[in-house]
Amino acid sequence: MSLTDTYKLKNGVEIPVVGFGTWQSSEEDAEQSVLWALDAGYRHIDTAAAYRNEAGVGRALKKSGLKREEIFVTTKLSNKEHGYEEAKQAIEDSLSKLDCEYIDLYLIHWPNPIKYRDNWKEANAESWRAMEEAVEAGKIRALGVSNFHGHHLDALAETAKIEPTLNQILLNPSDMQPEVVQYNKDHGIVSEAYSPLGTGKIFEVEELKELAAKYDKSIAQLVLRWSLQHGFLPLPKSVHEERVRENADIFDFEISEEDMKQIDALKGRAGEAADPDQTQF
Ligand SMILES: NC(=O)c1ccc[n+]([C@@H]2O[C@H](COP(=O)([O-])OP(=O)(O)OC[C@H]3O[C@@H](n4cnc5c(N)ncnc54)[C@H](OP(=O)(O)O)[C@@H]3O)[C@@H](O)[C@H]2O)c1
Repeated sequence: MSLTDTYKLKNGVEIPVVGFGTWQSSEEDAEQSVLWALDAGYRHIDTAAAYRNEAGVGRALKKSGLKREEIFVTTKLSNKEHGYEEAKQAIEDSLSKLDCEYIDLYLIHWPNPIKYRDNWKEANAESWRAMEEAVEAGKIRALGVSNFHGHHLDALAETAKIEPTLNQILLNPSDMQPEVVQYNKDHGIVSEAYSPLGTGKIFEVEELKELAAKYDKSIAQLVLRWSLQHGFLPLPKSVHEERVRENADIFDFEISEEDMKQIDALKGRAGEAADPDQTQF
């Protein structure tokens, strides 16, 4: 396995097994860190309209000198732009900021934003209709969701013509979200792991220090390898070049079954996923 290996989404599109995260990176930091990531061999970049750094990501794509088709780019519909007209415009805005002719994967960022709490089902259905049209127009290659639970996906299935291929959720040893992962599996949906390092909180878990030392690896490398061995697609983020490189060096060791179980048992030690029906944004 390597950074350029892929999972096949159910519509046939191939997605690299590790992505590079950009949440909380300024436009400038996103540009610089994505350039480092592409230089280190990452070929999958994760951004979102809400991160306000799509333009920085777009500049890095151009500056890297790589061909557009060599890089997999994900962006997301923000919580304020649900609905048919809104989503249609949001897709155009993301394309323009990324300075790309197409987006590889487009996600609804959250299923039940506070702005649409009274009509979230209809808002998702209408957003999805705009997303489907963009697929038909060649502007998006694959559709997916983020932070969706089973009941949100069931509601979407009532009207969707194109099925979601991937669900991006918080997944790390502190919260493995077993029900959502099982739902994804049952429906052929890839489980993409956001906050694979617990947004930094994973480094405080004592047991991981010993385990990482056993494999002569860092905690970050151990936990990212754990994610891959579970069949997840981790999205580590860093704005430090040495960490960007370190987080990619996870293909030369294998965690034993026993140690995988020990890591699985760290539930609750580094935070947990937010309830998407209770968020205040
Ligand atoms: N869909 C969603 O709702 C959602 C939500 C959250 C995240 N995401 C996506 O998932 C990506 C990753 O999640 P995340 O940003 O929460 O964080 P993360 O990748 O779990 O952790 C990043 C944090 O760990 C630090 N770090 C990274 N590598 C390290 C290393 N090797 N050693 C020590 N510290 C290290 C980073 O610091 P420095 O940057 O200072 O190096 C940063 O503070 C996001 O960037 C975003 O693309 C999506």
